[in-house]
Amino acid sequence: MMIAIDGPAASGKGTLAKRIADHFGFACLDTGLLYRAVARDVAARGEALEDEAAGARAAETLELATLDDPELRSPSAGEAASVVAKLPAVRKALLDLQRTFAAREPGAVLDGRDIGTVVCPDADIKIFVTADLGVRAGRRYEELRRRGDPVTLAEVTEVLRLRDERDRSRAEAPMRPADDAILLDTTDLDIEAAFDAAVGLIMRRIARQG
Ligand code: C5P
Repeated sequence: MMIAIDGPAASGKGTLAKRIADHFGFACLDTGLLYRAVARDVAARGEALEDEAAGARAAETLELATLDDPELRSPSAGEAASVVAKLPAVRKALLDLQRTFAAREPGAVLDGRDIGTVVCPDADIKIFVTADLGVRAGRRYEELRRRGDPVTLAEVTEVLRLRDERDRSRAEAPMRPADDAILLDTTDLDIEAAFDAAVGLIMRRIARQG
């Protein structure tokens, strides 16, 4: 069973993916971390984030054990990730790894931007998680404030807006729902309600597929 979860930044897709994976006993891969780690490694080697050959080298030599680096969760790491994520050679270098993970038994949940469209076009279930920009920014702002980050809501909103725009408008694997994705709008849902809704959608899809 392969479950693809895509959506914009701070839509709640990562939390949802983990909850769904735990619920069904599946493996879970946050593919955003791959791009975040590639950007980190490019910068650590003193190379430019826009340098496609440097990005591809970092992607090819990526150490999966380094994905639990807490620094990768920072807003600046997300920003840097969306710069290297535009580069076709970087995306290509990360494709096999993601597809191999997606084939894990008894199932795998992958979350990102292009899972349903490019990485796993044959996924059994595709969910595209959305939420209004204001709501997503509010959630991210609260999260950062709790960590003691002296950021303003206006700054968080603008950073998310620009990152989504970059992810949506890039030529290679732009963020968009697959034609057969189920849309899940979490604007008015907390994580419990979003999880219940997602499990309901998955169970109905499984029942229909027999
Ligand atoms: O999901 P997360 O915010 O960690 O993703 C960071 C960045 O990585 C995104 O803004 C996007 O540019 C890129 N990304 C991507 N494709 C994926 C996952 C993430 O392009 N499947």
